[in-house]
Amino acid sequence: MRSIYRLVVRDRFGICTMALVSRTLFSSLATYHAAEARDFWHKEQTQDLTRSVDILTTKIGKGNSEDDILQSLISDEGVNGIHLSENLINRLLFRYKDDWKSALAIFRWAGSHSNFKHSQQSYDMMVDILGRMKAMDKMREILEEMRQESLITLNTIAKVMRRFVGARQWKDAVRIFDDLQFLGLEKNTESMNVLLDTLCKEKFVEQAREIYLELKHYIAPNAHTFNILIHGWCNIRRVEEAHWTIQEMKGYGCRPCVISYSTIIQCYCQEQNFDRVYDLLDEMQAQNCSPNVVTYTTIMCALAKAEKFEEALQVVERMNAVGCRPDTLFFNSLIYTLGRAGRIDDATHVFKVAMPKASVAPNTSTYNSMISMFCYYAQEERAFGILKEMEKSGLCKPDIQTYHPLIKSCFKMREIDTWLNDILNDMVNKYHIGLDLSTYTLLIHGLYRADRCKWAFDLFEEMADQDIVPRYKTCRLLLDEVKQKNMHLAVVKIEVLMKKL
Ligand SMILES: *[C@@H]1O[C@H](CO)[C@@H](O)[C@H](O)[C@H]1NC(C)=O
Repeated sequence: MRSIYRLVVRDRFGICTMALVSRTLFSSLATYHAAEARDFWHKEQTQDLTRSVDILTTKIGKGNSEDDILQSLISDEGVNGIHLSENLINRLLFRYKDDWKSALAIFRWAGSHSNFKHSQQSYDMMVDILGRMKAMDKMREILEEMRQESLITLNTIAKVMRRFVGARQWKDAVRIFDDLQFLGLEKNTESMNVLLDTLCKEKFVEQAREIYLELKHYIAPNAHTFNILIHGWCNIRRVEEAHWTIQEMKGYGCRPCVISYSTIIQCYCQEQNFDRVYDLLDEMQAQNCSPNVVTYTTIMCALAKAEKFEEALQVVERMNAVGCRPDTLFFNSLIYTLGRAGRIDDATHVFKVAMPKASVAPNTSTYNSMISMFCYYAQEERAFGILKEMEKSGLCKPDIQTYHPLIKSCFKMREIDTWLNDILNDMVNKYHIGLDLSTYTLLIHGLYRADRCKWAFDLFEEMADQDIVPRYKTCRLLLDEVKQKNMHLAVVKIEVLMKKL
């Protein structure tokens, strides 16, 4: 049996009443109070932080030099009592990420307190802000401080290099690499890869290659090194060099992987050089490196884009032959591209025959592609048929994208009180899909054109009630209409809304 406690409860009129409560209630009250106290302190701390941020931001004027801002902070009595924490500094740095002078002044001000030390993360943030705003000398100063505090990591170095290269100062990035030991880090494969990757990403691929040729005598490259270079060459559309890099890679005893090949294949696909694509597929096979479904999806999409539909469909055969299973994304892309090309029968064949044969389940996107294809080619009956199928399949549910083309079709076919009414009902009551701005806009404009102004206006109000801001065009459209009909209240409502736009 539960033991019973007597508890005195003071009600809000200040009268003491005796109450009988079980132990469970009593202890849960105690827990509740502890939690409340914790919440209270947590809230107090957050409020403190917000207050400190507010105080400091009001002290920081615009357009001064960072020294001026720093001096004004140091001499200000009002900011002296502020409790410094990493959290506070990071918040302020984030706030001033586009204003390096204020950010640096705050950083310096906090750092001038003898009992406060900046964290590694704050230092990294500061370095990044200065680099991004191209205050390179200041960035070097901070880096030097970090070095003295032994706070530099490879992550810091990556940021610094990236900012130098981003400012087209690639030589400075290389110098940072040369100084790595002085900065407290090692020159090894990992740090070399960071440098090469940074250079390649900003299209300094030739420079990266030169540096690699020099460094390879001291630092062993790995597969990642070569993939970086392959990516780089492809990025600047020098696919022959990328291909050569594969040979070089093999020379070093590094096995080219599916990523190495797929990167080059993608590049040839963009050039629509399909002979080379097939050559590479053969080479992969010879190397015992199987293409994956991503590789095949790339090829198939490129073929379809080049309007080589038969060949695109043959990719499925190729995949089957090597035992690579197509997935939903593969088929979705295929259906989408066939649809765009007007190959309705082929798309339908893929959907009805190829997918079940490959035991790949369609998802919402698959159905959506079929529906929008049929709507686009004015085969509304078939589009609605797919919707029915989707609902019956139990595999997935329609989403807002499913309904967009269907709503348009309803307007086109003037099936408003029938089909449109039904699908809206399903959307809201059966699938609980919240209407978004573009759906409301589509509906309101459609209903207006179909001379269903009352309905359009009801939806307009519903949208406004949900704080979805209507487009200006929509307001204009309805305003003229309600003015003509002397709906005074509606006119006022719309005008109030338009003032806010
Ligand atoms: C359908 O599947 C593909 C591939 O897995 C995925 O990219 C896509 O987001 C899915 N669509 C939906 C609506 O879940």
